[in-house]
Amino acid sequence: MDDVTLARAVHILSIVHWIGGVAFVTLVVLPVARRVADPRQRLALFESVERRFAAQVRLSVPLAGATGFYMAERLDAWLRFLDPAQWWLGAMLLLWLVFMAILFVIEPAIGNRLLDAGRADPSGTLRVLERTHGLLLALSAIVVSAAVLGAHGLLA
Ligand code: HEM
Repeated sequence: MDDVTLARAVHILSIVHWIGGVAFVTLVVLPVARRVADPRQRLALFESVERRFAAQVRLSVPLAGATGFYMAERLDAWLRFLDPAQWWLGAMLLLWLVFMAILFVIEPAIGNRLLDAGRADPSGTLRVLERTHGLLLALSAIVVSAAVLGAHGLLA
């Protein structure tokens, strides 16, 4: 097996962990949390799951990026990122940047304030969380599908 194939396998494995986790939180944890009667417990359930998941994706998201950059370098693919016909490459990079910003900039900067808002208005905060997670999951599904189709020449 050559190094690019290995990088591709690690790339996909990190993405399965990361986007799969986003799907689980969005489609399982948040709907379960909504059914918990006590609003404070509702948010506490979400927070405990999300805290554990966030610690893990702080590894899988950078790993997806590192293997992506490695493949781009080895395949000499940098100019392809500027080609509109291969928009899926730019979409991958953009989605990665969005998650990196959430994990390493936005969450550390306003995470505590979000927790305070959650304590003050648990139902409203849960609704905002549901919307943002739904949006991120929909974008991720589009990018994953486009990347697989694009990498195998089916979008050209
Ligand atoms: C820093 C960010 C990223 C970079 C630099 C990057 C780069 C790359 C490169 C160079 C390839 C190989 C393309 C080819 O063979 O023509 C690739 C494949 C792929 N990437 Fe990324 N990627 C990044 C993030 C992502 C993200 C966020 C996703 C998913 C949401 C993703 C999903 C995929 C998929 C599904 C493939 C195709 C695998 C296959 O079917 O062979 N990548 N990526």
